[in-house]
Amino acid sequence: MKFFIDTANMNEIREAYALGLLSGVTTNPTLVAKEKDVSFEDRLKEITDLVPGSVSAEVIALDAEGMIREGMELAKIAPNITIKVPMTPEGLKAVHAFSKEGIKTNVTLIFNANQALLAARAGASYVSPFLGRLDDIGQNGLDLISTIAEIFAVHGIETEIIAASIRHPMHVTEAALRGAHIATIPYKVLMQLFHHPLTDKGIEAFLKDWNSR
Ligand code: E4P
Repeated sequence: MKFFIDTANMNEIREAYALGLLSGVTTNPTLVAKEKDVSFEDRLKEITDLVPGSVSAEVIALDAEGMIREGMELAKIAPNITIKVPMTPEGLKAVHAFSKEGIKTNVTLIFNANQALLAARAGASYVSPFLGRLDDIGQNGLDLISTIAEIFAVHGIETEIIAASIRHPMHVTEAALRGAHIATIPYKVLMQLFHHPLTDKGIEAFLKDWNSR
């Protein structure tokens, strides 16, 4: 499983990229709205200048024509822009149009397996099932990853599964185990993945012993 970071914040992206393990970035309108002093386009330019992997940029229009218009403009920013489109009939029309142009797409707000299958068949490069938001309403987000992974394997579908709406480290482990190709992770959770109390204790003990020689 590969790691994407789920943020539009440049400091977080720089820190994560410096770790050498980052394969891409996802943004969404909520994350972009937190970045007050920069335009969406300028921020996408900054991100794509730094990160060579997929950088998801979400369209705002709700009709296919508007999504295609916005997406085509966003795709001009850099070759590694992936157009993020909501899971609706209009969204999938736009996905199909982008795929014919060789533009990568990420279908977002996936909450069941049929939505993932529809998106894949429309030509989506990625589907993003939202784990945390399913857990929030008492449904099992991780089971959805398993189901989508199994359906895609049975039918030889190459669309990649991005485990999204990740809230804690166990989501990451389980998403990997259940066949997600990618997890898009908030910076805070990414840093939590490094941590184990026995690692800290071990470093402390090694240093203490070294210094007592
Ligand atoms: C995915 O691409 C989304 O940006 C994101 O994971 C949404 O997560 P949230 O439920 O924490 O807003």
